[in-house]
Amino acid sequence: MALTRRDFVSSIAMGTVGAGLADAAVTGGVEARQPMRAAKLPIIISAGNGIPYIGAGYQHLLEGGDTLDAALRVVQGPEDDPNDDSVGLGGLPNEEGVVELDACCMHGPTRRAGAVGGVRNIKNVARLAREVMQHTGHVMLVGEGAERFAVARGFVRENLLTDASRKVWLLWKETHADWWGAGLADPAWKEREQQRLHTDRRLQYYQQLQQVAEDLGIEPELRQAAIHHVLFPPTGTIHCSALNAKGEMSGVTTTSGLAWKLPGRCGDSPIIGAGCYTDQDVGSAGATGSGEENIKVAGAHTIIENMRHGMSPLEAGMDALKRIVRNYNGDMNRIKYLDMTYYILRKDGAYAGVSMWTGYEPDQPHAIAVHDGRPRREKTVSLYEGVSQEWPPMVAPSSALL
Ligand code: GLY
Repeated sequence: MALTRRDFVSSIAMGTVGAGLADAAVTGGVEARQPMRAAKLPIIISAGNGIPYIGAGYQHLLEGGDTLDAALRVVQGPEDDPNDDSVGLGGLPNEEGVVELDACCMHGPTRRAGAVGGVRNIKNVARLAREVMQHTGHVMLVGEGAERFAVARGFVRENLLTDASRKVWLLWKETHADWWGAGLADPAWKEREQQRLHTDRRLQYYQQLQQVAEDLGIEPELRQAAIHHVLFPPTGTIHCSALNAKGEMSGVTTTSGLAWKLPGRCGDSPIIGAGCYTDQDVGSAGATGSGEENIKVAGAHTIIENMRHGMSPLEAGMDALKRIVRNYNGDMNRIKYLDMTYYILRKDGAYAGVSMWTGYEPDQPHAIAVHDGRPRREKTVSLYEGVSQEWPPMVAPSSALL
């Protein structure tokens, strides 16, 4: 993990810790963005956490496989990995301790889409979204209906809550459960901001969290990440877009969504046009980050339409980020709490990764994984330097901790 304990504790004290540790599982270096050059086909891109699996997707494209199959091979890696707590098995649960998964996909050649939201007990929801696309006349199934459809299609029900994720949920439950109340877009929100803890109290609070984590039996080496997840509920997700040598394209996005969410909350990932959009005539795009913000700008669709009207992938993504900023009238007191990354692939193979914030430099910047014959992670181009701040703000903890 790139952020040292000392960095983390001092960041807590300064109130400067933000998103970024969600990518801690990603290993290997991150390259600077490649200068624009002639694109090579096939090509496959994903969120940074797809790097261990992107080779399998690329190989499938080389062998003439379907572009959606290739993208599914990449995202199934984190879905199956119990140690990736942002997707599939081991994903961080909702406020009641139940893992609920969201996913959607689009198949460019047949211009079809499938999506599932709030699915319990089924691990590979990206593949389930494809089943909805292929085996129903619908586009989206949610909740119990989606789970029953999965079982009918041969998926196996399993407990998705690992012991590690359960303990982090308990840590949140005991110390920080405060989702309810005014959201960032609410006029009442400023009053909530005034409740932020002063620096000395933040450090004291961090030490109290350490104690509760120890009492819960969270291993010492996992405590820092657990506390980070409590203070900064992650929205970790994976998107993947693939383009084969014939010019066919597909995209898929899958997630366990915002940690500690209210049961039934769906973010952007299962929303066609927000978490993922593919248009065989133009390109494919997807998102990770603040789902609520991305839904409001229909981010992936906005990017594709921008490219349809002549913007480059980079310009198209930056415009979508600026629409989020516009929704807050440029108020940095609020925008500092948001983060968003877009992964963009144009039909000719040109690509871009853009994000609201850089993330942690130099080791944990927001990154896009790319494979066009050479697998690599590249830094995204960011609208703002730095890291986003914790959300919800560190308000006074429950009296039990004081
Ligand atoms: N972007 C994932 C979510 O907000 O659920």
